[in-house]
Amino acid sequence: MTADLDRVAEVLAGASRVSVLTGSGISAESGVPTFRTEDGLWENYRLEDVATPEAVARNPRGVWEFYEMRRANMQAVQPNAGHFALAELAPMFESFTLATQNIDGLHQRAGSADVLEVHGSLWRAHCDHCGRVVDPFPFPAPEIPPPCGCGEVLRPSVVLFGEALPHDVFAAATAAASECDVAFSIGTSSVVWPAAGLPVLAGERGAFVIEINPAATELTPAFDVSLRGPAGTVLPDLVRRVRRVREGTA
Ligand code: OAD
Repeated sequence: MTADLDRVAEVLAGASRVSVLTGSGISAESGVPTFRTEDGLWENYRLEDVATPEAVARNPRGVWEFYEMRRANMQAVQPNAGHFALAELAPMFESFTLATQNIDGLHQRAGSADVLEVHGSLWRAHCDHCGRVVDPFPFPAPEIPPPCGCGEVLRPSVVLFGEALPHDVFAAATAAASECDVAFSIGTSSVVWPAAGLPVLAGERGAFVIEINPAATELTPAFDVSLRGPAGTVLPDLVRRVRRVREGTA
């Protein structure tokens, strides 16, 4: 692992455009449950009941209860060393794009700016009927389901299964992935597309691609290097090594 870390630090130190995709694993060390790992959210809830447009239409109250529970969990946790390390890395490059599948807002709380939230955010709500957006949406919700002024109800601004990703946000993430020198996939099982394809696209366009995850994933063979460990340990270590290479003390 040390040899791999040194190799990645060398590559990063010489890079100017970096693109990153994160998943729920980066928030695991903050105490946010992942989806598909042992005791993950999708073992305890049926996603058809809480995370589809049909569920919102059939049972908006039940969907809101699920997301209010998640908002309560996420408000109670803090960003971890992995989130902070990415915020520290950003200004070290000419261009640094952070796309996340997470809806928890922890990257922003750790100081990352311009985060591309490809699956939306728990801290916004909108109305599918009239298009009104409430940002930020207060916690706790004043009423469940919260009424919209137009007579319909608001829904959480998260991407549900079967829905398209927010067009402009995903276009920006795709552009960054296609133009970068180095891409990371961090803390994601890489099974939910199209987000999972961002680092793959980067690799196809010639970028050096790195996975950070304690476990192998379906896409592991597509990466140049896989750093096997928790993001909260691997990322701060990497930041220190990149600094040392840049300062010529490695
Ligand atoms: P998953 O639960 O599918 O995968 C989490 C990944 O994080 C696994 O590969 C773990 O091995 C890894 N992991 C666990 N702890 C880690 C740590 N400390 N550091 C780094 N990695 C760690 O979650 P996602 O890949 O985020 O979509 O799931 C993708 C999408 O599926 C989510 O955005 C959500 C979900 O359904 C929507 O809701 C639309």
